[in-house]
Amino acid sequence: MSKRAMITGITGQDGSYLAELLLGEGYEVTGIIRRLSHPNLNRIEHLLDRIRLHPADLLDGLSLIRAIEENEPDELYNLAAMSFVPASWDQPLLTGEFNAQGVTRVLDAVRRVNPKIKLYQASSSEMFGKVREVPQTELTPFYPRSPYGVSKVFGHYITVNYRESYGLFACSGILFNHESPRRGLEFVTRKVSDGVARIKLGIEQKLYLGNLEAHRDWGFAGDYVRAMWLMLQQPTADDYVVATGESHSVRDLVEVAFGHAGLDWKAHVEVDPRFLRPAEVDHLIGNAAKARQSLGWAPSVDFAGLVGMMVDSDIERLSGIKPPKPR
Ligand code: NAP
Ligand code: GDD
Repeated sequence: MSKRAMITGITGQDGSYLAELLLGEGYEVTGIIRRLSHPNLNRIEHLLDRIRLHPADLLDGLSLIRAIEENEPDELYNLAAMSFVPASWDQPLLTGEFNAQGVTRVLDAVRRVNPKIKLYQASSSEMFGKVREVPQTELTPFYPRSPYGVSKVFGHYITVNYRESYGLFACSGILFNHESPRRGLEFVTRKVSDGVARIKLGIEQKLYLGNLEAHRDWGFAGDYVRAMWLMLQQPTADDYVVATGESHSVRDLVEVAFGHAGLDWKAHVEVDPRFLRPAEVDHLIGNAAKARQSLGWAPSVDFAGLVGMMVDSDIERLSGIKPPKPR
């Protein structure tokens, strides 16, 4: 009998790649979607004939219990979250409801319905914030710098606590930034790849950004969902950092992205203070030695490859050429 997986956040970037991976591994996949007045299934349109969708919301614990009872998953991947850091200053309470108490609702639903379900929690390198150590590992202390980061620290520790209190097989993946052509347009990599494409095609002249000096450890989302799955295939539950071990500034990103399209970024990029944050995470770089050793995980796409893939995809999309098959 094939294994069953449930994914919260299946309509997001990671949810779509994870659903593809799990289908490829022979799983039956159920995705949790929240009710919207207008469907938001564009990232999983190509999978709709192969997955089941179940309405539920992280804000409603009863809906989660029902979803688990009716679909009987062996593995549950909790990817749903308010994931855009600047929005967390605008809506700090709602961010906590989704990203902190939402995790408790998922964990408690699992505990009540079937404590044998293996659970993955989407934790974040934003928890390291004002970093206490370089590079960051599973043992680096947290110092979050946004309501988003604070909410993810709660989500991380409540996952550890349910593992230790109730013996749940619950893993927390501390994932560094991962990107793709399916990334939301407000995140910096996609904002840049989309901006480069618009400028290349003559649709726009300028791209307005915030802090060019921030550094991130950027990888490809398709690689990172494999690490999530591998965590749940281990004999015991544990927490893992997932990262490339390479850090680049937003300035590097811009230079590589414009260069890929044969453009000089200095002629097009301007700093707009509206995109600066009340408190910044200056420099993230992860040490994924544990994931490499225990999971056998390694990234397959490097920084230049990732940026090139995103720029090409946006140029193709905006040129009106038939978009490439999702990768
Ligand atoms: P994303 O593209 O923003 O997707 C977020 C998903 O969460 C969407 O499917 C969204 O549904 C869903 N969602 C939000 N609130 C919900 C609610 N109340 N009930 C049910 N579903 C809800 O995010 P992502 O980049 O795929 O990231 C996936 C997870 O990994 C998130 O938890 C994020 O915080 C975490 N993470 C991401 C990164 C990264 O670099 N991408 C790094 C570390 C951790 P709608 O489509 O309805 O909005
Ligand atoms: N979004 C955005 N827009 N960021 C900008 C801009 C801009 O115009 N200009 C500079 N930046 C800088 C931000 O200040 C930040 O330092 C960096 O680019 C990355 O910003 P985002 O792409 O928005 O991602 P993030 O690092 O804040 O958060 C992402 O990664 C986390 C993991 O570390 C999100 O995916 C989070 O959900 C995830 O947990």
